[in-house]
Amino acid sequence: MEEGIFQDRVALVTGAGSGIGRATAELLSRQGASIACADINPEGLDQTVSNIQNAGGSAISIECNVADSEAVDAMIQTCIDEFGKLNILANVAGVLAIEHTHLTDNAVWDRVLGINLNGTFYSSRAAIPHLLKSKESAIVNVASLAGLMGQAYCAAYCSSKAAVVNLTRVMAVEYLKRGLRVNCVCPGAVSTPLIQNFAPPENADLELIKRLSLGTKSAEPQEVAEAISYLASPSARSINGVALPLDHGVHAA
Ligand SMILES: NC(=O)c1ccc[n+]([C@@H]2O[C@H](COP(=O)([O-])OP(=O)(O)OC[C@H]3O[C@@H](n4cnc5c(N)ncnc54)[C@H](O)[C@@H]3O)[C@@H](O)[C@H]2O)c1
Repeated sequence: MEEGIFQDRVALVTGAGSGIGRATAELLSRQGASIACADINPEGLDQTVSNIQNAGGSAISIECNVADSEAVDAMIQTCIDEFGKLNILANVAGVLAIEHTHLTDNAVWDRVLGINLNGTFYSSRAAIPHLLKSKESAIVNVASLAGLMGQAYCAAYCSSKAAVVNLTRVMAVEYLKRGLRVNCVCPGAVSTPLIQNFAPPENADLELIKRLSLGTKSAEPQEVAEAISYLASPSARSINGVALPLDHGVHAA
């Protein structure tokens, strides 16, 4: 993708303190955007913002728990106060929980749905009035391959990501005529702390987990960042409401 494609654009990236969010914030910055980096983890945020600034880009850091709607409203307002506008929202923040469905307690269910689904909704809801002020704007959500299929031991995660896929479609239909496109990416395994900390639950049937890969390697966060950048860019102007698998064909199989 062309350098400078996002010149004069402002992007807000949640989950920017690590993994896919950091790679996305850094890529959009190299492509010319000013970046509002949001995350619950201040150390991770500091690292991302210094990486961007050291490379000559413009970035601010906003500490925010996306599961808290008031904090999310304040996050969007901080971005507007600092940069005066918002053109791109990348909803990347997310958490994974692994457990047998019948052992998944309310706290785990509520945490995963609260961050992955509510966080995506709260951020989009607060951002949309600002996104609609620009002629061409985009939301890119990070769902997951887990949102397109049933994966054992991931009830809360799969449910949250499937809901993100359909929330994406709803917003895509609702706002297209007003200049806002909404898409999501559905990665399989990506080499980030989220997957590196993956451990099957006790007494898991490992055969059920193996079917999630076609024997391929995990993707790098940069590959997901490139897909997010493309979907947010004018080159994707006719692409709206898609859930793009980045999974080496596992979903197809
Ligand atoms: N890594 C994978 O294999 C994979 C596959 C498919 C989808 N995803 C999705 O990609 C997204 C990014 O994950 P990653 O792999 O980069 O993991 P990661 O753990 O490296 O990054 C997730 C980031 O989200 C932040 N975060 C967590 N809870 C938050 C909250 N309440 N408010 C704000 N920020 C919060 C974390 O601090 C972290 O910086 C997630 O939505 C995840 O579900 C990851």
